[in-house]
Amino acid sequence: MNQSHISWDRIRADFPILDQQVHGQPLIYFDNAATSQKPRAVLDALRHYYEHDNSNVHRGMHALSMRATDAYEAARVKLARYLNAASAEEIVFTRGTTESINLVAQTWGTKFLREGDVILLTEMEHHSNLVPWQLLAERTGATLRFLPINDRHELALDRLDEFLTSQVKLFSFVHISNSLGTINPVAELCAAARKVGALTLVDAAQSAGHLPLDVQAIGCDFLALSGHKMCGPTGIGALYGKKTVLESLPPWHGGGEMIVSVGYEKSTYKQPPYRFEAGTPNIAGAIALGAAVDYIEAIGREAIFEHDCQLAQYAQKRLGEIPGLRVLGPPLGGARGGVVSFVMEHAHAHDVVTLADQAGIALRGGHHCTQPLMHKLGLESSARASFYFYNTQAEVDRLIAVLAEGQSRASASFSLPLGELYETVVTDHATRPRNFGKLEEGAVHVHGDNPSCGDTLDLHVQLSPEKVENIKFTGSGCTICMTSASLMTLKLKGKNRAEARRLMHLFHDQVAASPDTEAGRGPRELGDLNVLGGVRKFPQRVKCAMLAWRAFEQALNEADAGVTEGSISTEDAEE
Ligand SMILES: Cc1ncc(COP(=O)(O)O)c(C=O)c1O
Repeated sequence: MNQSHISWDRIRADFPILDQQVHGQPLIYFDNAATSQKPRAVLDALRHYYEHDNSNVHRGMHALSMRATDAYEAARVKLARYLNAASAEEIVFTRGTTESINLVAQTWGTKFLREGDVILLTEMEHHSNLVPWQLLAERTGATLRFLPINDRHELALDRLDEFLTSQVKLFSFVHISNSLGTINPVAELCAAARKVGALTLVDAAQSAGHLPLDVQAIGCDFLALSGHKMCGPTGIGALYGKKTVLESLPPWHGGGEMIVSVGYEKSTYKQPPYRFEAGTPNIAGAIALGAAVDYIEAIGREAIFEHDCQLAQYAQKRLGEIPGLRVLGPPLGGARGGVVSFVMEHAHAHDVVTLADQAGIALRGGHHCTQPLMHKLGLESSARASFYFYNTQAEVDRLIAVLAEGQSRASASFSLPLGELYETVVTDHATRPRNFGKLEEGAVHVHGDNPSCGDTLDLHVQLSPEKVENIKFTGSGCTICMTSASLMTLKLKGKNRAEARRLMHLFHDQVAASPDTEAGRGPRELGDLNVLGGVRKFPQRVKCAMLAWRAFEQALNEADAGVTEGSISTEDAEE
């Protein structure tokens, strides 16, 4: 299809948020797989609802309630048409993909799944299409199986028969992988599942706003989507379910709206979709999602898909030109949506994201809620650029220039723009960490995790009643984490316990100071650790700098309690 008749510039102007500067640079928003931006039409729909029609749905006989009900139900009809569902009754409003999948796991799973049954997933699933099934398997005694990926980062379809056996009761898979960008052949997978009598669920979080979807042609039993990834507001999404299948399911949440009649001991329930919509729903969200559907339809999903794919292929090609950078997902020309994840030699994804952020570019770094996939690929994390129809080739060029510059500035270690001294010290310690290793005999061991970043660290501390006799660490993390750990071990070895705690507080005061205060030289006692004072400019990175120190603090606490093994997570720390 030819997109030449479309004025992408004019369309971009529909998104007020894009017209701003970040860190003095025009915003480039490449985090669309996490959430898309919202056009004025959607913002207006929200505002119009609250200014004119706000009222509760279904239970009112007055004018406002009838208007709200009509608009809410009209949104359901729009979504049904958008997905080519057989009727609006097949659309259940939920909070999003995660809730839709949980709804199926808890209603269908509880009623139909038995010990010995198998739920088939794939190795590239988002945690949202993994954890609900793990919980269900624990409850029912069912087993999880995973269709592998091949070295092109596509599903190993040649092994489908081996995994899709008659024990499989449900096959749930992602349409477009949020980590790899891979587009899966959903109709083919559904047809194969039907042959063995398994139901199917398509996780369409990354596809619903990006390409035409026809649930009847796909042949799925369920399909889950999130409004906020397709120009709609947060907190609203939908579950498509084939009518006969939805009708066979028990209610999920109990409460108002989902009942026909209620007695003290027993109630009777409405037909789907209302059976699954207990309580006051997200009325404004559903109406605004309807506006998002109208907006996307007016552009045309074929054109959006073509635009996103072209941009992703262009980005993949240009990124591949940067030395030491590896793009994940299908090779150039493969079936890829608008998602391009990559890893850089010597650069942790969080450093890449912080560097891009300083140039006004919003990327995402981490495990992208696909931790098992990252481990399978031997990675802790990756950086990800994800595109939508308002992104341009010029924006991709800017990203390439920023990354290439970052890569060339420090050949051995990709570092943040915090000055020459910082670069020298960080390059030195991140690539050649001191006191790297383990202590066995009598040492306290603390395992530390920084879930937001994927940093992991194991600290081993040998403590006498007075002082830190020896201290070593292992682990893998971003440059800030590794440098901080390396410098910390140098600083703390031989210090008495009280002094070590005091240094920890001094260091914390340096890195966690207000981002507006200039990082000066810092207290003399901290020495080289003062180069990390600049981290205060990146508040989201303070946890990286503090991971080793929090582990050390825990080691002191463990020793006081007479324990030698412990763990901490920066998730729990308020820095
Ligand atoms: C493939 C995939 N599935 C599920 C989800 C979960 O979506 P939500 O958080 O909107 O429920 C996401 C979100 O990133 C996703 O990318």
